[in-house]
Amino acid sequence: MGYGAERDGYARTWHAAYAMNLLSVAELNLSFPPDMKADVEGWNSRHPLFAKLIAQTKPKTIFEIGSWKGASALHMAELTADLDTHIYCIDTWLGDPNPEQPNCLNYDVGAIYRQFCFNASLSPAAARIHPVPQTSDGAARILFAAGLSCNLCYVDGRHDYEGVFADITAYSALIAPGGTMFGDDWEYQSVRMAVTRFAYENNLRVGTSGPAWTFLGLNTNKT
Ligand SMILES: C[S@@+](CC[C@H](N)C(=O)[O-])C[C@H]1O[C@@H](n2cnc3c(N)ncnc32)[C@H](O)[C@@H]1O
Repeated sequence: MGYGAERDGYARTWHAAYAMNLLSVAELNLSFPPDMKADVEGWNSRHPLFAKLIAQTKPKTIFEIGSWKGASALHMAELTADLDTHIYCIDTWLGDPNPEQPNCLNYDVGAIYRQFCFNASLSPAAARIHPVPQTSDGAARILFAAGLSCNLCYVDGRHDYEGVFADITAYSALIAPGGTMFGDDWEYQSVRMAVTRFAYENNLRVGTSGPAWTFLGLNTNKT
């Protein structure tokens, strides 16, 4: 398993000097229009695997790649209320760049991000939810440079083969020893191919449950 910034070698030395603070929704202290309403649209965002993996791993830190309006992040926040888990939500908030999607170009840049923040601001977990508005590869470099790792990583951002493989590769390097990675959309051939290739190349076993896939016990050889 490799990760670009690790190979580049510069990330920790340069960025550590800035003592990066990845703010929570509560700390962002945003204001919203008085008529704004909660809209928590999501996909498979309350799959039973969330509860099962959180009960098993009791994560202190979760990375979520692909948050959209926050449905899955808010579900994980509910499930970790007793654990004081911090959830880092990585998203461009621009939607799916798949050219087959009619809404692949989002001209109202910022609208989905504001909806995410509004939804999260209504949650008692607002101080534990940290938006990371970046591409998944850019965010991986930032999280690495900030010295963050996670115990649980949910992959639901890009859905093209190269993108899923790149996300799994980059974020697997940010998982603490023994941590878990899981993701959505096993029914997509692109996702299955990327997950299966990563498992083959890294001697891992893929678990599946409906649309969800899982790798348990990552990085056990790391100290
Ligand atoms: C299926 S949605 C996530 C749904 C969310 N997990 C839920 O269940 O509510 C996918 C998200 O991935 C984001 N995304 C797509 N490509 C991305 C990339 N390269 N970097 C960061 N986010 C990306 C999109 O903006 C979109 O919000």
